[in-house]
Amino acid sequence: PSSQTYEYLKVSTPRTGVALIELNRPKALNALFTPLITELNACAKQLDKDSSIGAIVLTGSPKAFAAGADIKEMAPKTFGDVYGNDFIESWNDLTLTKKPIISAVNGYALGGGCELAMMADIVYCSASANFGQPEIKLGVIPGAGGSQRLTKGIGKSRAMEMILTGDNLSGTKAGEWGLAAKVFEDAEKCVEGALDTAEKIAGYSRLAVKAAKEVVNKSQDLGIREGVEFERRVFHGLFGSQDQKIGMKAFAEKKKAEWTHE
Ligand code: CAA
Repeated sequence: PSSQTYEYLKVSTPRTGVALIELNRPKALNALFTPLITELNACAKQLDKDSSIGAIVLTGSPKAFAAGADIKEMAPKTFGDVYGNDFIESWNDLTLTKKPIISAVNGYALGGGCELAMMADIVYCSASANFGQPEIKLGVIPGAGGSQRLTKGIGKSRAMEMILTGDNLSGTKAGEWGLAAKVFEDAEKCVEGALDTAEKIAGYSRLAVKAAKEVVNKSQDLGIREGVEFERRVFHGLFGSQDQKIGMKAFAEKKKAEWTHE
């Protein structure tokens, strides 16, 4: 992945099996606009196909994960433009990625930035991070899944308060409320922590990891009975893999599993 160059992303492989995507539009605090999102989607798609990669970390800068959708790009748009061209629909393509994505959120994660962070499978942040859905202050509402993902993430009353007031949520609070799985002291520790977790995940069977992400995500859409049935079918399916034999045999022999990802 590091061989490819992007204008608004820095992509590297700092750990075995782990790709790090850094949003890189510093002059606009990583405000999200179409060219950046197009690159991000292309990058995620490429990493999904790259057999050397097992997990992805998505981050911004210490000052801003992303300060939202680009307000200057949006300002002149009409209803016809945005509805007619399905503005923002493609942002959701990141959620089509099959490999796990951990967002490491430092600084501002506002509007579309908060929504992008929540599209990841796991959110980590630093204590001083600033989450928020300030769209109400601009005369609009969240448009990239915020009203849905935030409500599922922290509950209706808290999400409603954030979306109706536009007030920010600190990283510390995001951890207490379960929006973030872990909270770190500073930006560097947050990215390192995300890379540690990504490296751990990348060390497991790719098939099992893919299946695990798929079944957990189904819980967002299915009722409990169908969800549990779906999980069991996918669990059964993994018994057709070599990695299930390898993993269980290694346990019995007290050895480290050497996955074939087949
Ligand atoms: N869009 C476009 N440009 C942005 C931006 C955004 N969302 N956020 C910051 N920038 C730009 C600023 O315009 C500024 O550019 P110039 O130097 O050319 O003036 C540069 O980034 C630095 O920003 P500030 O000078 O404002 O930095 P600050 O430290 O004083 O303030 C901030 C930081 C509080 C995050 C402030 O920039 C801010 O409030 N940004 C807007 C946040 C926002 O409303 N986001 C929601 C957007 S709507 C949305 O996302 C819709 C959706 O659901 C998809």
